[in-house]
Amino acid sequence: MRQEFKALVIEKSEDKTFSRHIKTRTTDDLPAGEVLVKVAYSSLNYKDALSATGNPGVSRNFPHTPGIDAVGVVEASDSAAFSVGDEVIVTSYDLGMGTAGGLGQYIRVPAAWVLKKPAELSAIEAMAYGTAGLTAALMVGALLDNGVTADKGPVLVTGATGGVGSVAVSILAKLGFQVTAATGKATSTDFLKSIGAAEVIDRATLLDASKPLFKEHWAGVVDVVAGDTLSNAIKSCQYNGVVTASGLVGAVDFTTSIFPFILRGVRLIGIDSVECSMAVRMKAWNNLAGAFKVDDIMQLVTEIRLEQVEESLMNMLEGKSHGRIVVNMADS
Ligand SMILES: NC(=O)c1ccc[n+]([C@@H]2O[C@H](COP(=O)([O-])OP(=O)(O)OC[C@H]3O[C@@H](n4cnc5c(N)ncnc54)[C@H](OP(=O)(O)O)[C@@H]3O)[C@@H](O)[C@H]2O)c1
Repeated sequence: MRQEFKALVIEKSEDKTFSRHIKTRTTDDLPAGEVLVKVAYSSLNYKDALSATGNPGVSRNFPHTPGIDAVGVVEASDSAAFSVGDEVIVTSYDLGMGTAGGLGQYIRVPAAWVLKKPAELSAIEAMAYGTAGLTAALMVGALLDNGVTADKGPVLVTGATGGVGSVAVSILAKLGFQVTAATGKATSTDFLKSIGAAEVIDRATLLDASKPLFKEHWAGVVDVVAGDTLSNAIKSCQYNGVVTASGLVGAVDFTTSIFPFILRGVRLIGIDSVECSMAVRMKAWNNLAGAFKVDDIMQLVTEIRLEQVEESLMNMLEGKSHGRIVVNMADS
């Protein structure tokens, strides 16, 4: 049945500038796919800000509806794996990049992108985590899988007030780690301590990449910044330290001497939440619903409506994000 709905639509003008409007679309406008989902909540991630401003590395075809995250209820399914009424989560793959995303009230996607929402998470909690939480869970999981335990010493989280960073701080604190949160926001110390950071440092102190090695300090690192910050973190790891890298808010590259790797056995692990297998993401979501579940994930959340998305995305591009932004997709 053809259904009208509201969506954020990014349009490209002839002079190659991009504009954002809320428009009425219909389910006939959506791409082919096995599962039609009525979206209850979406959430904002850095990649949505890039898509909404026409970054060609994220979205190339316009008009386009961004939103790499969605939780909602199956309205129609051609897949035996999903039935009408199932509560499901869809994140990443091509959602919100080339495929109309969760900032529309309906999405239609391949069944291979869909997972059933763990019962232990409410719909809004699922989006409080979203791709940021999934990524944080993959990063913390990689630290644990590689032998970083709470007794080994401090773990550094960069971009700590952002989506990935704030969820990572919360999960690590819940698991008993001594978390050092690096931030550019001097006013966020109380917030970061309230979510479990033992120490809050100015991110500018991590920009020194001048030496081949620094004093051993971090047992593990969760980095979303790259550039000199990542270089400094790698060179400041303890023997057998583990650095997980998922982001590029500071730079798209970094340099390092070889010494952290060959003298200290430091391991650098790249994290991808977009194309990782369904088995990997199921494990991460089950962790988010179980062992990693933060007592009050909602304290990270600002809930907004579709009409407020543009302002939040622009703040995100300016590095002003604070915690997680969940978009309530119900009619206002
Ligand atoms: N690999 C993956 O699968 C994956 C998945 C999700 C996200 N990501 C990437 O991870 C990064 C973070 O995503 P997010 O959704 O958490 O973004 P976000 O909510 O916008 O948070 C990014 C945080 O980084 C810090 N920051 C911003 N600009 C910076 C700069 N120039 N230098 C140093 N720090 C800066 C800020 O925190 P402070 O003010 O506290 O420093 C900001 O709040 C992005 O690059 C995103 O593309 C990758």
